[in-house]
Amino acid sequence: MRIILLGAPGAGKGTQAQFLMNTFGIPQISTGDMLRSAIKSGSELGKKAKQVMDAGQLVSDDIIIELVKERIAEPDCQNGFLLDGFPRTIPQADAMRDNGIEIDYVLEFDVPDEVIVERMSGRRVHPGSGRVYHIEHNPPKEEGKDDETGEELVIRPDDQEQTVRKRLSVYHEQTEPLVEYYQKLSEEGKTEYYKIDGTQPVEKVSDQLGELLKK
Ligand code: AP5
Ligand code: ZN
Repeated sequence: MRIILLGAPGAGKGTQAQFLMNTFGIPQISTGDMLRSAIKSGSELGKKAKQVMDAGQLVSDDIIIELVKERIAEPDCQNGFLLDGFPRTIPQADAMRDNGIEIDYVLEFDVPDEVIVERMSGRRVHPGSGRVYHIEHNPPKEEGKDDETGEELVIRPDDQEQTVRKRLSVYHEQTEPLVEYYQKLSEEGKTEYYKIDGTQPVEKVSDQLGELLKK
């Protein structure tokens, strides 16, 4: 099963990726997490990506496409994968198709900008695993600690309000055109497109996804 999770920053892609991974046993490919670990390792890619990410802009298509192509070629992706945060531009989506990579489901999470700004102010993440929490809507069992490892949770550097607003405007300009792109492919029978109300509680969204994909 090959799935794309589409939606604005903070729409809940990472949160639901966790659920889908556990339920369907397919790996999550989060370009954001891959870039963050490159930054942590101090690699050339990390150095290039950091400034761009901190400014809320997109990393160049060439770099991202190469990164994803390499990841998809790995053995654990042969039975499917979950793309979280990719594609984010029309050229990225075209690159997938040019490489013959077909997608079974495109799942769009719909959440208004103001809800997102509020969500991001309470987000906490576990850098090692990419697990995501919210201090009110999805709190860890122990405050400030990851449920599985007990390690410290952190605030992402790009979660300050000004940067979130910039990321939202970049989303509307560069990523939202993909909604029409995939809806059209869906009409042609080349993928299945579903729009999900991402303002529902986390478990409700998961239930809905579970139902959709079980069919
Ligand atoms: P990336 O890491 O992909 O960030 P993003 O797309 O901006 O999305 P987020 O991770 O912020 O949000 P999410 O949808 O995963 O929401 P989450 O589940 O965490 O990218 C970061 C940067 O890397 C980009 O800005 C760019 O620079 C670069 N980059 C990455 N991919 C790229 C690409 N393909 N091309 C170019 N550049 C790229 O949830 C958010 C919060 O809400 C959490 O606190 C969560 O607990 C809470 N929450 C989730 N669901 C609910 C719910 N239903 N109700 C209440 N709260 C909820
Ligand atoms: Zn995410």
